[in-house]
Amino acid sequence: MPKNIAVIGAQFGDEGKGKIIDFLAEKADVVARFNGGNNAGHTIEVNNNQTILHLIPSGILHKGTINIIGNGVVVDPKVLMEEINGLTDKGVKVTPDNLVVSENAHIILEKHIKEDKEKNKHLGTTARGIGPAYTDKAARAGIRVVDYINQNNEFSKTLSSFVKNTTLLINNLINTDKKILFEGAQGTLLDIDHGTYPYVTSSNSIVGGICTGLGIGPKKIDEALGVAKAYTTRVGNGPLPTELKDETGKQIQDIGKEFGATTGRPRRCGWLDALMCKYSAMVNGLDAVVLTKLDVLSGLEKIKICIGYKYKSKIIKEFTTDVEILENCEPVYEELSGWKEKLDGMNDFNELPENAKKYIKRIEELIEVPVCIVSIGPGRDQTIILRKEFLF
Ligand code: IMP
Repeated sequence: MPKNIAVIGAQFGDEGKGKIIDFLAEKADVVARFNGGNNAGHTIEVNNNQTILHLIPSGILHKGTINIIGNGVVVDPKVLMEEINGLTDKGVKVTPDNLVVSENAHIILEKHIKEDKEKNKHLGTTARGIGPAYTDKAARAGIRVVDYINQNNEFSKTLSSFVKNTTLLINNLINTDKKILFEGAQGTLLDIDHGTYPYVTSSNSIVGGICTGLGIGPKKIDEALGVAKAYTTRVGNGPLPTELKDETGKQIQDIGKEFGATTGRPRRCGWLDALMCKYSAMVNGLDAVVLTKLDVLSGLEKIKICIGYKYKSKIIKEFTTDVEILENCEPVYEELSGWKEKLDGMNDFNELPENAKKYIKRIEELIEVPVCIVSIGPGRDQTIILRKEFLF
């Protein structure tokens, strides 16, 4: 049984990581974020009550869980304060005991947001200042949380009570056998090094980002879970080979409520891309996959899985980050029969419609990684466990 689990987006973000982290957090002592900032939008639903988190880790709704914002995250102090106040208003206690912010995380300033809005339209960024803040970090012109507090800025007094040396903290927590969840933001294909550059975010959203974004050794990560939707979505610009610009795409968008949690933008929808998921499994060393939103596909007569790209009359069988190919290829599909039944109330793999089971099995075969959880709705109870050996 793993002690420390990484939960990583296997596609373009919005795979449902927030729900899965919240589900796993019941048994975790710590949830730690290592990358990104308030470009993320993690939607959690408990007792029909929805909470959208952008910066605070998704363990915050569990009493006694320590939530860490690591050094690899970029922090907009105003947004952090708003999020703390919003949760407090909802009756969720946020104190220095359950939220800790790294002194080495970099600060998003007003100028970063302005620059993001002015210069990054062609990329379709979330315009939250993420890229420019990381640019200043790399240029050694950034301001860290510790510097911001020392300079006595607007939110520094409140912020300072949450600030600690999180590298020391997390290593101590690991050494005392606490159960840790490493919460990824965005997804593998948005990773600055391994994604569809330049249509990516400005941090490492893959497992590798955990070591630098929190200051721990690679051997401390016991297991990597990849979260993948049963189809694919992308918000913002950039290639999406399996994109459906037809009625089926619209249907998936409507039923799946595919609108961005951060910007409200409609998400582009398409079939599952097995090449992409297999690539994610490789770069993250995935041990298992969590397949989300399977319920959205109920009622479709046929379901397709992309198993190759046809480009200039050649069939490509491995994923590529060459945007020219991704934008101009024709997906090669395998077609499976769909299922009519709604999945509401199903608790066990064996209760699923035969064709849904076949779909899951085929995905496992194609990406060569077992599926350990299937999610069939936003609620905590809409979660089917297939292989509990991958969970706490
Ligand atoms: P940025 O991270 O705001 O710079 O945006 C870069 C790209 O990543 C854009 O296509 C965004 O739409 C996308 N992006 C950033 N964060 C998320 C996320 O949490 N979910 C999905 N897409 C995201």
